[in-house]
Amino acid sequence: MKTPSIRVWDPVVRLFHWSLAVSFAVAWLTAEDWEDLHYAAGYAAAVLIGFRLVWGLVGPRYARFSQFVRNPGDTARYVGAILRGREPRYLGHNPAGGLMILALLSTLSATALTGWMYTQDAFWGAEWVEELHEGAATLTLGLVALHIAGVIVASLRHRENLVRAMVTGRKRAPQATDVA
Ligand code: HEM
Ligand code: HEM
Repeated sequence: MKTPSIRVWDPVVRLFHWSLAVSFAVAWLTAEDWEDLHYAAGYAAAVLIGFRLVWGLVGPRYARFSQFVRNPGDTARYVGAILRGREPRYLGHNPAGGLMILALLSTLSATALTGWMYTQDAFWGAEWVEELHEGAATLTLGLVALHIAGVIVASLRHRENLVRAMVTGRKRAPQATDVA
């Protein structure tokens, strides 16, 4: 029998996610010698983030920040539960995932902002701006690695391909022990 599934990620969230991943990858890979493409990919990431912030307020249930941003105590307890191998399955983003989303959006915003600043006359050649830009970009890369590791761990633990869910939008229908 086929396990019933329900739609969780709306098309905007999915399109946003993969466009952001591509923008980041292109910006990272073009940083050294492809100036025009680097700026374009960096600005694309900034526009996507701006869009996501609005969607997080007005979008459907599982796209909303109010649905997946938990307080620090709940997030810490959730991480503790992961370490004990007893964390529940969440239909939307789990508390650690919610925190990661905020972290990624923040460091990417800082990267795009400092990159733009570096192109302005006021900051042209300012070493601290360049260093902040590179630092924020490198920090984002580290978070992306953790993000992907988190996705793999959660996929294995709950026997669900979360990467495919971010493509199709569908996840396994919740059971009694899941947090819907
Ligand atoms: C091949 C690389 C990647 C894979 C496989 C991947 C996979 C995923 C998956 C499965 C989710 C949903 C997590 C959940 O079920 O709660 C997610 C969410 C997210 N990922 Fe990725 N990701 C990748 C790269 C990236 C990159 C490069 C970025 C940013 C630089 C990024 C930023 C995000 C954000 C912001 C969300 C939240 C989506 C939303 O609600 O808008 N991801 N990712
Ligand atoms: C948000 C995604 C972005 C990422 C991941 C990123 C990443 C990087 C990295 C890693 C470098 C260092 C390259 C090196 O080793 O020399 C760099 C340099 C640079 N980036 Fe970005 N960047 C982004 C967005 C932007 C934006 C939006 C702009 C401006 C429109 C920009 C402008 C620059 C400039 C001017 C440099 C050269 C600094 C120098 O002369 O060394 N970047 N970027």
